Amino acid sequence: MAKKLRKKIIAGNWKMNKSVSEAADLASDIKSDLADYRDADIVLCPPFTALKTVSDVITQTHIKLGAQNMHWASDGAYTGEISPSMLRDVFCHYVILGHSERRTMFNETDEIVNKKVKAAIAGNLCPIVCVGEVLQERESGAANDVVKKQVAGSLAGLGDDIGKVVIAYEPVWAIGTGKVATPAQAQEMHAFIRGVLGSIFNEDIAQSIRIQYGGSMKPSNAGELLSQPDIDGGLIGGAALDARSFVEIVRLAK
Ligand code: 13P
Repeated sequence: MAKKLRKKIIAGNWKMNKSVSEAADLASDIKSDLADYRDADIVLCPPFTALKTVSDVITQTHIKLGAQNMHWASDGAYTGEISPSMLRDVFCHYVILGHSERRTMFNETDEIVNKKVKAAIAGNLCPIVCVGEVLQERESGAANDVVKKQVAGSLAGLGDDIGKVVIAYEPVWAIGTGKVATPAQAQEMHAFIRGVLGSIFNEDIAQSIRIQYGGSMKPSNAGELLSQPDIDGGLIGGAALDARSFVEIVRLAK
């Protein structure tokens, strides 16, 4: 099967950081360097409170907006939640779903993530679906089984809509720890995930889906990670809070 050309995608997950004015400053700094950059897709995912402001800053550029979470229902009595149409209303194109911090701290299961993925697609949002094993699972040799179960569960029943999904492999032991997966470790898991997608959906689709790496990615290690054949981008946490390092990573993704 000929390898499909997959455009790299770099997303900044700002997590629970940045006031509205700080978010505007960060987005402006990134925009001043990358407004016309077309060699990779660029996504900024600020906290909910800053979505509208960042949306206004990046309007009329190629930089896209993403949210960090979402509820699956379209509206109603869900205190504290945000719906897909509310995200579209502030011009979000992407939404991160099933991040390990949501899975571990807020008890999000594969079933919940699956409902959100379907709702995001129905609401015209591109889901960035996160999967990844914890350290003990890696050390006990269970990483592949864990990730396979997350991929199968989170993406169950999508059919052709799978083509609208981006996957982020984020080994939990590498998130915010400074302990990055080696390019070989990351490549091995990305190829494994592509294989799983091939067996659940089909080989053609598997070759076209973008799989980002996340976990302590920074300018000093991004080049090697992003040059692996099955690594199609990055989901950046800490290094995305600094315009210069985020821009540097984006420029390494071609
Ligand atoms: P760090 O880049 O801070 O390790 O975070 C990765 C992450 O969780 C992105 O979603």
